[in-house]
Amino acid sequence: MPDRTDVRDEPAARAGAAEETGGPAEPGGTHDTGEQEQHGGADRPPQDGQDTQTRQHVPADQPGQAEQPSGAPAAVYTHGHHESVLRSHTWRTAANSAAYLLGELRPGMTVLDVGCGPGTITADLARLVAPGRVTGIDAAPGILDRARSVAAERGLKTVDFIVADISDLPFPDDSFDVVHAHQVLQHVGDPVGALREMRRVCRPGGVVAARDSDYAAMTWYPGSPALDAWLDLYRRVARGNGGEPDAGRRLLSWARQAGFTDITASASTWCYATEEDRAWWSGLWADRTVDSSYARLAVDGGHAREEELRRIARAWREWSTSPDGWFAVLHGEILCRTAG
Ligand SMILES: C[S@@+](CC[C@H](N)C(=O)[O-])C[C@H]1O[C@@H](n2cnc3c(N)ncnc32)[C@H](O)[C@@H]1O
Repeated sequence: MPDRTDVRDEPAARAGAAEETGGPAEPGGTHDTGEQEQHGGADRPPQDGQDTQTRQHVPADQPGQAEQPSGAPAAVYTHGHHESVLRSHTWRTAANSAAYLLGELRPGMTVLDVGCGPGTITADLARLVAPGRVTGIDAAPGILDRARSVAAERGLKTVDFIVADISDLPFPDDSFDVVHAHQVLQHVGDPVGALREMRRVCRPGGVVAARDSDYAAMTWYPGSPALDAWLDLYRRVARGNGGEPDAGRRLLSWARQAGFTDITASASTWCYATEEDRAWWSGLWADRTVDSSYARLAVDGGHAREEELRRIARAWREWSTSPDGWFAVLHGEILCRTAG
């Protein structure tokens, strides 16, 4: 089972620096967790232990309006990094979350893992391409300490983590053989712009890979009106934050809009249907629903009252007790080859 060490909850991993409620940023603003920093970019990939600060896009002529280079509004990262969220993120491996990419990887390749979170997938990728170097970036500085610990525990010397935003990657053109993002595009305000930026830093003949869940396509048994309410609520909160919770089905379309022409689109699932898996999955969602930045955003955004959140959390726990319980999470996937 995953390690349960908490990382400070970081609701504001976002492009730019909007307030936690999705409101405008202070001019040049940092937010109240201190996690969002002003950042200028590096002009080359980082060396070991070198931390590159991330850029912030607050146009001088519009104080208080955070936006991305494309002009699209910045999004708020819905989940944050509460312990209940990290229970899920730290369970992830290259095998259970990036199988569609594994056939592309070769020793010696360089990989950028965008929105790497606690870095368990990043660390697996590092082992697969060693001695090639892997760089993980994330907009939330605190979670990168966790990622560095994961890499250190595994004795990895070929992986670096730096703070950066997907909308403005601090690397020169053509820097990496593979540029990967798992469960990130659903959280950004301009996923097409993000894919263009991922392509920019990918070398000609390289691969840009993304996988995202599709909330509307999640399905389960037995049915429960309160779990229907959970899904409806999550999708409203995520959209209110500027994201697209039904991203999986859109990845191919976004990649085409970003200008990719050689795209392999696929789908894969996570499925929880044993007593242990049901308890884990429902427990992390029950806890997340009442005690995480998602819960706070749901209430502060006027999407739900606390008693509604408690009702949904109870429904998750009740659902998990059914020996018939089965839950499937559908994901869309894209492998985009850059012109050689
Ligand atoms: C759902 S988590 C996925 C983490 C990791 N890829 C995984 O699957 O375990 C999404 C991550 O993207 C990061 N993120 C959100 N918006 C971002 C942005 N604009 N630029 C870079 N990272 C971002 C969040 O801080 C978070 O760690």
